[in-house]
Amino acid sequence: QVSPLTDSFGRFHSYLRISLTEKCNLRCQYCMPAEGVPLSPKSHLLSTDEIILISRLFVSQGVRKIRLTGGEPTIRKDLVDIISQLKEIPKLENVSITTNALVLTRNLVSYQRAGLDSLNISLDTLQPKKYEQITRRKGFERVIAGIDLAIQLGYKPKINCVAMKNFNDDEICDFVEWTKDRDVDIRFIEYMPFSGNRWHTAKLLPYNDMLSSIKEKYPNLETLSNGPNDTSKAFKVPNYKGQVGFITSMTEHFCGTCNRLRITADGNLKVCLFGNKEISLRDAIRKGCSEDDLIALIGASVLRKKKQHADQRFLKTSSNLNKLQMRAFSTKL
Ligand code: GTP
Ligand code: 5AD
Ligand code: SF4
Repeated sequence: QVSPLTDSFGRFHSYLRISLTEKCNLRCQYCMPAEGVPLSPKSHLLSTDEIILISRLFVSQGVRKIRLTGGEPTIRKDLVDIISQLKEIPKLENVSITTNALVLTRNLVSYQRAGLDSLNISLDTLQPKKYEQITRRKGFERVIAGIDLAIQLGYKPKINCVAMKNFNDDEICDFVEWTKDRDVDIRFIEYMPFSGNRWHTAKLLPYNDMLSSIKEKYPNLETLSNGPNDTSKAFKVPNYKGQVGFITSMTEHFCGTCNRLRITADGNLKVCLFGNKEISLRDAIRKGCSEDDLIALIGASVLRKKKQHADQRFLKTSSNLNKLQMRAFSTKL
């Protein structure tokens, strides 16, 4: 192994996603049941110090970008502290969050002062009523205000929009139009079947269908180039401020260029979003493992990473889809 972060297919992992909490202040239909998800006792979650220790370790092995996720990462009271301590790690180039934006108008200035480099915001509809339906909570206006504030503060937020048949398929072009005056990057995400999400397979809106309907209205849609590890394929309407893209997890997976590793809120290393064996870095740290032992544990786990999550033929039968659902929880995205 050239580096503990290189897997057996030669993929080097420079991007770490750390989940800060399993909790969320929304209840998106495709993510959580109305009553929420079972929560780990607080003592099982990583502490601020453990998060920083793990981050330093990964950066020492080559990680250059850390994304804080959830649940909803802004629920963690120590978020500002975590961001500023991460920003003190030399060689770490980017610290980012993925958030539902509910608290941004209140907190984004302090995240920015702490050094937050970029942010991705979840928003699946531009209609307040539908927002309430999909998230089971109110908050649409706050999210829009949060996005506007982010732009005002100099960010170019990525807006994650989970595309779902019979929910927001009629809004795809509205979202494109939204980029006319706003410098945002709207990314339509193919809906993924997860354990505990009640939105079944018929909800999937394939990338090709979305692209054709956009091209009907915007025939001069321009194809942009993508970074080597981008999850999305990017496009833009000429002369519009922002851009749009597609995250095609289901119809054209991007496992071949995956550079991502994950840490769950309770300290497990996940080498793939869709399952695989996890190791508990938390337990290893609490047992007093040395840094070298931790790095060896991580390296062994990275070597077990599979080539891809599942192929399309596999996904075609619903019994296989059910098996896939068993393995992932979207609260660990
Ligand atoms: P950037 O770092 O800004 O490129 O964002 P990102 O796409 O890595 O992260 P974000 O948290 O915004 O995730 C958006 C969506 O990307 C998720 O909902 C997933 O659908 C998808 N995604 C991110 N990482 C993975 C991954 O490792 N595997 C798969 N299949 N999908 C992923
Ligand atoms: N399919 C696709 N995307 C999902 N997300 C959450 N659950 C799913 C799912 N089942 C998205 C959220 C958030 C991002 C981290 O993952 O909308 O923006
Ligand atoms: Fe919360 Fe994100 Fe899940 Fe929605 S998708 S319930 S915002 S964690």
